[in-house]
Amino acid sequence: MAPRPVTISAVDLFCGVGGLSHGLQDAGIHVAAGVDLDGTCDYPYRANVRAPFHRRDVRNLAVDELAAMWPAGAVRVLAGCAPCQPFSSYRRGVDTSQEAQWPLVDEVRRLVEGALPEIVTMENVPRIGSTPVFRDFVARLGTLGYRVNFGSCYCPAYGVPQHRRRMVLVASLLGDITVPKGATAPADYATVRQAIGALPPVGHGETHPGDRLHKSRTLTEINLERIKRSTPGGTWEEWPEELRAPCHRKASGATFRNVYARMVWDDPSPTITTLAYSFGAGRFGHPEQDRAMTLREAANLQSFPSDYEFVAPGEPVQFAPLGRLIGNAVPPRLAAAVGEAIVEHVRAAKGAVRKVPRGRSVPAAR
Ligand SMILES: C[S@@+](CC[C@H](N)C(=O)[O-])C[C@H]1O[C@@H](n2cnc3c(N)ncnc32)[C@H](O)[C@@H]1O
Repeated sequence: MAPRPVTISAVDLFCGVGGLSHGLQDAGIHVAAGVDLDGTCDYPYRANVRAPFHRRDVRNLAVDELAAMWPAGAVRVLAGCAPCQPFSSYRRGVDTSQEAQWPLVDEVRRLVEGALPEIVTMENVPRIGSTPVFRDFVARLGTLGYRVNFGSCYCPAYGVPQHRRRMVLVASLLGDITVPKGATAPADYATVRQAIGALPPVGHGETHPGDRLHKSRTLTEINLERIKRSTPGGTWEEWPEELRAPCHRKASGATFRNVYARMVWDDPSPTITTLAYSFGAGRFGHPEQDRAMTLREAANLQSFPSDYEFVAPGEPVQFAPLGRLIGNAVPPRLAAAVGEAIVEHVRAAKGAVRKVPRGRSVPAAR
């Protein structure tokens, strides 16, 4: 007799605007709920993932509340992308151990210990792999009976048009599981041109009338002059002396070449940070228009679909909060590859998987 297909259902802790959830759904995984304490994630999460959003502090989420979110009989996935700020390479040399976010990985551990979901997955910056909190987490998963695998994933190999490296962990009570290898060869990496080349032009400080997110920040007079003198892939060293920032005039400034620069059309973009809309914060200049990238371009380079809604109708489009939400997201295409690996793993263990279309509800356990 053919095995009865099982539903795989995920709860996404620290769900943000839903990059991870959206990618898991692309793989056919049901998303039961997202949890995040930032209320600005509520609209984008519900509008795009079409799953319940719980505005909650994960530290106060009880095990039985979490358990009630999953549908009865499903193979349960707990996704816990605790904020990466304490581990970011931008924070090197700064003692972040006292920051509020530091114990959040332990909160994921508490919930795993209590609920014992069949599958656990986590995404973070690669440096988390060498931290005691992460090593303790992996060791505890082992004593709970999980098979664990983690590794650094280079996003272009997963179809993301962006140089970004992320650590992905997968763990399972059903048997061996591995982080998927990226299937895209370097010659086929998605490019800036493919991601944003078809978007209509906008000037600096302008918003396109057809898409409120296609909005670029106003440049100061000197930055406008600077970007006019910049070539794709070049550096501020091309500029005349008077346009250079005082720190770049010193010999020591020569190390910061990846700021105030333009992207290259036929390469993946640089890592999209929370400040990707700012010309001075990275290689975030448009390849040929005299402006920094728009919020929509940043989202496309993170591999969000072009119609992903980030702001409720009538709400203002603001650079800082939206840049943070977009830059902090898990690229949906990377998440989809992780989701596909989970689906294949469960299929091997259980015989058959029922894929659930985005937004389709499956009754939760009560
Ligand atoms: C790296 S982002 C997650 C990105 C998300 N996984 C995605 O793919 O879009 C981390 C998120 O954790 C949330 N967060 C931080 N501390 C939290 C807490 N104590 N409880 C719930 N959410 C928290 C932040 O608001 C932020 O949205």
